[in-house]
Amino acid sequence: MSITVTPILPRFGAEVSGIDITGPLSEENKREIIDIQNRWGVTVWRDTGLDDDSHVAFTRIFGDVILAPKTRGRPRFAHPELFDASNLDADGNIVDDEHRRLTNRGNRLWHSDSSFVQERAAQSLLLCHEAPNGGPTWFADTRSAYDDLPQAMKDRLAGLEARHCYFWSRRRAGYPYTEEEVDRFPHSVHPVVHVHAGSGRKALYLGAHARDIVGMEREEGRALIEELNDWVGRPEYIFPVEYRPGDMVIWDNLCTYHRAGDFDESLHRRDMRRTTIRDPQAPDSGDGSVQAMFRQASQTDGRIAGLQDPKS
Ligand SMILES: [Fe+2]
Repeated sequence: MSITVTPILPRFGAEVSGIDITGPLSEENKREIIDIQNRWGVTVWRDTGLDDDSHVAFTRIFGDVILAPKTRGRPRFAHPELFDASNLDADGNIVDDEHRRLTNRGNRLWHSDSSFVQERAAQSLLLCHEAPNGGPTWFADTRSAYDDLPQAMKDRLAGLEARHCYFWSRRRAGYPYTEEEVDRFPHSVHPVVHVHAGSGRKALYLGAHARDIVGMEREEGRALIEELNDWVGRPEYIFPVEYRPGDMVIWDNLCTYHRAGDFDESLHRRDMRRTTIRDPQAPDSGDGSVQAMFRQASQTDGRIAGLQDPKS
């Protein structure tokens, strides 16, 4: 079987075909798939034939699979590795409430999954089971965006770190938290620029959860974060992926941002399921996970219990 790679942008994103990923793969094919992923950052796989079992099994070729945080209500499937990125409850009805609307508004900002914890995500594998009318995901190339920065900006960013907080991006989406309340919630700290291990290229790492630059005045840091987030969102670095049932997209959160596209979730069923790989370079402390962050946050504010958002 020979794998075909069709680039989407010259430097970023590719459609991959010519290989059946529903069953066991040879070591050579696994290596090839990982190399393609590392090079292109986002890969799109059409009409995969994957189900929950084979989705989780395929995910393991990339590394350690993160368990999904528990969400409100009864889970829709048995695999603890599957994040439920649908708008459906366990009975298959469309869920439409204020919490979900705010969550979705937050997901429409450019972000990197789990940047708000130390144990951040590497690859995310999102499989479409039921497609809405519209509702693409947009992807952005944080490596090329870094490459193209003026040298003066690269020099300015060298050594800088940012503080990320889940409740900061939610506040921007409309959650009723004050700055002072957000101050009390858990934050993570990550370099603004890091070397993407899979390719050796440098990448920006900010997005919607990034709140402040360590050691910089708050206003100055926010202006810098906004400038860089806007830069990554320029047309030459981004493209959308539309889904049909069976399609899967894999993105590497350590060299891409993504955001949800617009569509009316209250009208159209959307059944998307995601698995996520742990950053192999993340500290393995046990308290840097998404679950631990929400546990800690719920001690600060009891209303947090049940507000976990698996999509961010
Ligand atoms: Fe996300």
